[in-house]
Amino acid sequence: MEKQITNGQKMSQLKTINNKNILYSCWLLLISINLFSSEPIAYLNTLGYEPAQKEIAYSLNGMVTTQHFLATSVGEKILNKGGNAYDASIAIAFTLAVVLPRAGNIGGGGFMVMYDKDTSKAYSIDYREKAPEKSYRDMYLDADGIFNKDELSTFGYLASGVPGTVAGLWEVHKQFGSLPWKDLLEDAIFYAEEGFEISPYMADILYKYNEKMSYFPETKKIFQADFPDFKNRKLFQKDLANTLKKISLNGKDGFYKGEIAKKIAYDMKLNGGLISLYDLENYNPVWREPLTSSYRNNKIITMGPPSSGGVHIIQMLNVLENYNLDSLEHNSSHYINLLTEVMKYAYADRSKYLGDPDFFDVPVKRITSHDYSKEIYEKISLGSSAPSIDIHPGMYLDSESNETTHFSVADSQGNVVSSTYTLNSTFGSGVVIKGTGILMNNEMDDFSAAPGIPNQFGLLGAKANEIIPRKRPLSSMTPTIVMKEGELFFTTGSPGGSRIISAVLQSILNIVDFKMNLEEATFAKRIHHQWQPDILDIEFSVDTKTRNELKAMGYYVEITEPLTCIQTIMYKNKKYSGYGDFRRPDALASGKINDR
Ligand code: DON
Repeated sequence: MEKQITNGQKMSQLKTINNKNILYSCWLLLISINLFSSEPIAYLNTLGYEPAQKEIAYSLNGMVTTQHFLATSVGEKILNKGGNAYDASIAIAFTLAVVLPRAGNIGGGGFMVMYDKDTSKAYSIDYREKAPEKSYRDMYLDADGIFNKDELSTFGYLASGVPGTVAGLWEVHKQFGSLPWKDLLEDAIFYAEEGFEISPYMADILYKYNEKMSYFPETKKIFQADFPDFKNRKLFQKDLANTLKKISLNGKDGFYKGEIAKKIAYDMKLNGGLISLYDLENYNPVWREPLTSSYRNNKIITMGPPSSGGVHIIQMLNVLENYNLDSLEHNSSHYINLLTEVMKYAYADRSKYLGDPDFFDVPVKRITSHDYSKEIYEKISLGSSAPSIDIHPGMYLDSESNETTHFSVADSQGNVVSSTYTLNSTFGSGVVIKGTGILMNNEMDDFSAAPGIPNQFGLLGAKANEIIPRKRPLSSMTPTIVMKEGELFFTTGSPGGSRIISAVLQSILNIVDFKMNLEEATFAKRIHHQWQPDILDIEFSVDTKTRNELKAMGYYVEITEPLTCIQTIMYKNKKYSGYGDFRRPDALASGKINDR
């Protein structure tokens, strides 16, 4: 059953009922005859979407950026009401659960990295999903050891981890919030109850995912009622509104205890899922020390395990600091060569050494050390591609010890929030819990089902990321804050599965090394290599000269559709700027915030 276009799929496989097929074909034709000098925007024009972001947004008083313009306006509203960046982020997260159901969620989980002005300290909270108590290592292998034949780790009731979003947001509210909790849910409840207009882009997504979203009647009733014509319609989510009201009234207990928890546990049991009342009552988010490092005198603050993102961003930046990147032409074959070789080492290590630190001793210090980056630096030989089969997870230690969304808020007091949260695939597991409107995640697929078996993003894993009850699956989500001389420089983060790490890396390099403004950094094409498979992905297109040079170096190049969406806020000369990535056309950064 063809349910979604995953990152691993090639353009040639872009199929199913997609009313943009003809336009895609035109786009491909244009690429093949190499007409674009500015491919990204041409790509968008070809698809016919009007991006919400028209130009860089500027503001003196703070900035909000999210993947949906309605959530951005809710963030601004909360700041204008006197709320801080934490309040705005919580309200945004609840609103996205309504207006961006493909990724925004209360049935999923994520990470939040924060810089708190009052304490001049960075914090991070892990509200990632946890494996249910009844899960077990080989649960997605059949009697013959074959993985996921019935797509059980990605689709349906067995695919979900215990959601963490509501508990995570509640915890942030208790620690840093300034407005009453109920104020933060008002807009989400409004949009769920009164409905909101489906954008042309969202209409196409709902159309494209018809098969996946029609399988379970509860999901179909909400998301496919208007099939095939979603344009100029409103999406109403009455059950979700009632669930949000319970959360508004009872805090996190409105989700993890009482009527909603019982409905989740009951529906799970009835349909072969594992999440129980016990799992819900015992879910806990964790405050974790954020990872910090320095890159060309900028302070990087990012998420540690169970995200692999921060570890590998620091690892790659450490290696790249040995080069004068700005002496290379941006996205020239020489630049791509260097980035690709560095990525291969990082993703190889990811496959073996990264997992939930509560269950596995992740060698963070070693991977992010300068000694280790020197070893990688010395192994890299530029001018050619080292075949991935010759690159191994490189620590030699004694013992083995396609949907997400990012949002950022900066307030006038100097607090900064960078958060990425997800259902994993677009619309998660496809399951809506009966009577609640809660769309569930399929995060169990982020575990390694068995050594050598790739997940939906083609990522490999090992013991570090095997399934154990209460463990969190390894993630690539990389919410990051970069500081300069004690002040915010910029925030960054993206969806895109395995591509998140390489996208965030390039977002940092574009701004720090190539001095791009936010528009330029957003428009710059992104490349990706994840060690295995040994393929160099380039977004949109590549000119013939660069392609030939890369080929001569030994790369297998593939052109991909855009799969990431960088949301960035920058602070420069006492002014905030923001840019929502046109790759998801509803994204919007805006800073219509009153002077206090
Ligand atoms: O945590 C992770 O790495 C994945 N669950 C993220 C999935 C994702 O970004 C899909 N979005 N395009």
